[in-house]
Amino acid sequence: MANLTSEIEKRRTFAIISHPDAGKTTLTEKLLLFGGAIHVAGAVKSNKIKKTATSDWMEIEKQRGISVATSVMGFNYGDYKINILDTPGHQDFAEDTFRTLTAVDSVIIVVDVAKGVEQQTRRLMEVCRMRHTPVIIFVNKLDREGRDPFDILDELETELQIKVRPLSWPINIGVHFKGVYNIYEGGLDLFTPDKQKITERVEISDINDPIIDENIGDRDAQKLRDDIELIEGVYPEFNVQDYLEGKVAPVFFGSALNTFGVKELLDCFVRIAPSPRPVQAVEREVKPQEEGFSGFVFKIHANMDPNHRSCIAFVKVCSGVFQRNAPYKHVRQGKILKFAAPTAFMAQKKDIVDEAYPGDIIGIPDNGNFKIGDTLTEGEQLHFKGLPSFSPEMFKYIENTDPMKTKQLNKGIEQLMDEGVAQMFTNQFNGRKIIGTVGQLQFEVIQYRLLHEYGAQCRWEPISLYKACWIESDDKDALEAFKKRKYQFMATDKEGRDVFLADSGYVLQMAQSDFPKIRFHFTSEF
Ligand code: G4P
Repeated sequence: MANLTSEIEKRRTFAIISHPDAGKTTLTEKLLLFGGAIHVAGAVKSNKIKKTATSDWMEIEKQRGISVATSVMGFNYGDYKINILDTPGHQDFAEDTFRTLTAVDSVIIVVDVAKGVEQQTRRLMEVCRMRHTPVIIFVNKLDREGRDPFDILDELETELQIKVRPLSWPINIGVHFKGVYNIYEGGLDLFTPDKQKITERVEISDINDPIIDENIGDRDAQKLRDDIELIEGVYPEFNVQDYLEGKVAPVFFGSALNTFGVKELLDCFVRIAPSPRPVQAVEREVKPQEEGFSGFVFKIHANMDPNHRSCIAFVKVCSGVFQRNAPYKHVRQGKILKFAAPTAFMAQKKDIVDEAYPGDIIGIPDNGNFKIGDTLTEGEQLHFKGLPSFSPEMFKYIENTDPMKTKQLNKGIEQLMDEGVAQMFTNQFNGRKIIGTVGQLQFEVIQYRLLHEYGAQCRWEPISLYKACWIESDDKDALEAFKKRKYQFMATDKEGRDVFLADSGYVLQMAQSDFPKIRFHFTSEF
């Protein structure tokens, strides 16, 4: 067995997040090219759920099938072992992305230089801020016309609410784009628009080196010097510790499509990004260097073949060494389980692995043993925190349309909810089941999968709801009084916790001011 500490230090587990179309897929692909994990551009494309496919569920189905293999992409780069966790591009799967963010140690955010910070990036950044996740920002598409880089920096700071520090700087933009000055390493990278070619690097002594003028012309060289002077004057020197604490985000500029600025990003990333960090459990903090294995399930992926209704549970290793066939405790069920066929994800392939280290993700074939958030240990009673369900934004009653298949329907709903596809609430007033999602698409996903995987048919009925929030109070009587007063709008979630279904923002606001002893929560973890 390899040395645990050195294996931990080698690992970089992260996710790339962006608003759809900013260039996440392209950047991922280029990183894989550098790691030798793939050899041609275009290999990752199929993973993406195209935005055009809003209601073309068959297409999504096909793409989801492919995305099992690309859910985690592991590769070696120099001495480092890199794990990229893929996040769905489609915003209807935002909840999936939130959960994936609980399994990474850092994040790269891709922003389109013409569009700046867009809505989904803002939302995802909120989760990063909540968790103090270190972020690096890559401003993409410099080969196209876009905004002034100083404006972009200002926008990043205000919109993402984090201090930024440019570590590279573009020389012009769009058709006049000539390259990037690497502030972090002090080199000049000249732009050659070529989809496969790696940057041409010009060695310079410092920013005043006349070689710069020779390569980009006097005017641009002067502009670059002025810009750099301004940057050094305005932005404090980059401090890695601040980055690691999530206080400052280094910014790189480039063009993913042209493989420009990508290597600089990757080289800096492996040097400064954190190796697996301690993970907080309800009972205590778990350090990766601890000998005993522990891990948690952050994602469950259903098998797309209806004849084999098995799933893959994605487990993030938090501490110790995971070993194939070793007995591990499934804490929620109190059972000891052995895993004969755990898979690792290297170079877009799934292979059976004998051992895995903190930071690694393993796929465990599963027949319904696992739920999102389940913990595995060598025997200790641990429950990892930080896998909240977010308050859904869309709600529908689910109705059975084939009374002969009630059992199948109930089983299907239960398993899909365990997988984290959506959330279910049972209305205490009329006993009806309500499904809550973050996007319209999930209703189609659920209906389709119930039919194809469980042989059960359902239909949706409208319900007008604004938000579902978890409620609690230290004052038992106040809680009972609230529940009595709002009895038509009370529900329970799958764990039996009290949930208030507010039918408008106004009603929620009134409830909050009329019942000061009640706490209203918008995520399930509080
Ligand atoms: P996403 O995963 O964030 O949704 O974005 P993706 O990488 O798929 O990129 C979205 C579009 O932007 C793609 O074009 C891609 O080729 C393009 N793109 C990515 N990086 C750059 C860049 O540095 N410069 C320029 N000019 N374009 C870039 P598409 O037409 O939507 O897709 P495709 O038909 O090219 O595959």
